[in-house]
Amino acid sequence: AKFTWVEKDTCIACGACGATAPDIYDYDDEGLAEVIYEGDNNMGVTEIPEDLFDDLQDAADGCPTDSIKIADTPFN
Ligand code: F3S
Repeated sequence: AKFTWVEKDTCIACGACGATAPDIYDYDDEGLAEVIYEGDNNMGVTEIPEDLFDDLQDAADGCPTDSIKIADTPFN
């Protein structure tokens, strides 16, 4: 299983992740990224399905500040 979470403290609102993986990431009012998949609300507790693993990895690889975290277990 895969889970993801955005560390907003280091996100610089570059906008890459939402373009790469729009089903997983969107932006808050300040342009900072957050996990929106299935209403996760950036808690990192919603399992990301396998068909989105490529998007997930591409987003993490493309983030210039390494703010996208991925783990095999829930973050909270
Ligand atoms: Fe922020 Fe990285 Fe996305 S800087 S907007 S989390 S690609």
